Amino acid sequence: MIIGILNQKGGVGKTTLSVNLAASFALTGSRVLLIDADPQGSALDWAAARAGEPLFSVVGFPRPTIHKEISQLGQGYDHIVIDGPPRVTELARSAIMASDMVLIPVQPSPYDIWAADEVVKLIEEARIYKENLKSVFVINRKIANTAIGRDIGDALSTYPVRVLTATVTQRVVFAEAAAQGKAVHEIDSAGLAIAEIEEVRKEIMEAIK
Ligand SMILES: Nc1ncnc2c1ncn2[C@@H]1O[C@H](COP(=O)(O)OP(=O)(O)O)[C@@H](O)[C@H]1O
Ligand SMILES: [Mg+2]
Repeated sequence: MIIGILNQKGGVGKTTLSVNLAASFALTGSRVLLIDADPQGSALDWAAARAGEPLFSVVGFPRPTIHKEISQLGQGYDHIVIDGPPRVTELARSAIMASDMVLIPVQPSPYDIWAADEVVKLIEEARIYKENLKSVFVINRKIANTAIGRDIGDALSTYPVRVLTATVTQRVVFAEAAAQGKAVHEIDSAGLAIAEIEEVRKEIMEAIK
């Protein structure tokens, strides 16, 4: 399966979810490739910060030809995660065309809800060529017990894209893990962040069937 994690808005959690979902797939025993399609190379930086054995492969490919080269790039892998770029529409379009499913992280903020418009439009355009393209929103950086955290699902329902039931909470362990080039699976002793990522992975696997 090829999952593109996209949203032209920066800071919504594309890279955070990319590395942790890639880790989640890898820990089920799958061979996983993470393609960093962001010219800024944050996923590559993450991999460079890591000491010890990699959990999965990471390559940089910030070019608008991912959709043409994905079958070559992805040879030998069970799952591919594409960490999408902010802004650059050509790159985002190519990453969407390369994907079986687009996962759109959104933070519980009105700015994020409005900004999602751009990526949703790109997905609708891509569907002209790729009828079976799946797409879902995932709420990231949810703050527990806040009204905005509860209302975001309603606000997003104006879009023709489903919102995953699984959500990811604002947790410092995500940043702590990233600083060491690790997945939360490797450092989250409380297990709450891990449980959320695992729920997201399972729901995506269900949605792609
Ligand atoms: N669920 C979360 N809890 C805490 N911090 C998070 C969470 N998701 C993302 N972050 C932090 O927010 C910042 C932006 O996330 P990032 O994954 O780099 O977004 P993007 O790739 O969309 O630009 C980073 O500093 C990251 O550590
Ligand atoms: Mg990023």
